[in-house]
Amino acid sequence: MARPKIALIGGGQIGGVLAQLTALRELGVLFDIVEGMPQGKTLDIAEASPVDNFDVAVEGANSYSEIKGANVVIVTAGLPRKPGMSRDDLIGVNSKIMTQVAEGIKANAPDAFVIVISNPLDAMVTLCQKITGFPSSRVMGMAGVLDSARFATFIAWELGVSVKDVNAMVLGGHGDTMVPIVRYANVNGVPVMELLERKYNDKAKAKEVMAAMVKRTQGAGGEVVKLLGNGSAFYSPASSAIAMTEAILRDQKRLLPVCALLNGEFGVKGYYVGVPCVLGANGIEKIVEFSLDAEEQAMFDNSVAAVKELVDSMK
Ligand code: APR
Repeated sequence: MARPKIALIGGGQIGGVLAQLTALRELGVLFDIVEGMPQGKTLDIAEASPVDNFDVAVEGANSYSEIKGANVVIVTAGLPRKPGMSRDDLIGVNSKIMTQVAEGIKANAPDAFVIVISNPLDAMVTLCQKITGFPSSRVMGMAGVLDSARFATFIAWELGVSVKDVNAMVLGGHGDTMVPIVRYANVNGVPVMELLERKYNDKAKAKEVMAAMVKRTQGAGGEVVKLLGNGSAFYSPASSAIAMTEAILRDQKRLLPVCALLNGEFGVKGYYVGVPCVLGANGIEKIVEFSLDAEEQAMFDNSVAAVKELVDSMK
């Protein structure tokens, strides 16, 4: 059986890590407009293969014809933010890039699943779906897996437990209004809030600690941007997109938070928002709804309003 083909549009920081992760697992093509750079990165990765013991090649490309036959396309083309910028500040320049990229995908990989990472995520994935005209089950954004991983990291550190045992989900838009779902955060089924209350023997203190973790999660991308001084996070976004890719290519039916086009689910119609989805061989196979409590609903509504404002500004 032929190996699946993963096309990576954008060969920068995230694209480079994606190429390495892809090479270790499947077959990939790394595309960028910069000549030589994707070829250089993929040559470098190929030359690591005898050491890391993998046979799979990844090719570099500057022509969209090279992505023909791709099963999954992951898009990171676009500028990252600089310290002090919000993701939304990138909308003008990245919309132009996304328009070119979506046309390239439409013409060359019409049957592919598309995972968008470029920011501002909720707007870029909207544009990508509009231009490609692909069914919404095939065009999705990567945000929730990363935001949830960040939330889980902070919980694990706070409680002194393995990240492997932490379950935590973040919904809503991929901006500072994102919605970490505190009520269901747990360590192997044990509620995080109860663990915090026992740790501090004080309900108010537990709430305060959780509020700080929620705030840190919402600003986690900016925290990395500030520390790097030049560019934004790239290891964790790449890993998160690969988890989504594997869920699709291996038909894993994983329930992951995905930026998906809603058609009435969670009371939203016609906008891309982060919600729990089942990802399998047919892409987004199901949007999984559950009841939000009053506080979560208020945060979700606020996040959706921010997404609407951003997306409507492109019209
Ligand atoms: N087509 C293809 N690639 C493009 C195009 C285009 N029209 N325009 C720019 N690129 C490429 C750049 O040449 C660069 O190599 O996109 C790449 C982006 O890489 P980086 O600048 O290193 O950015 P990165 O950190 O990978 O982030 C990419 O993902 O998380 C978001 O906010 C982030 O929007 C940013 C994107």
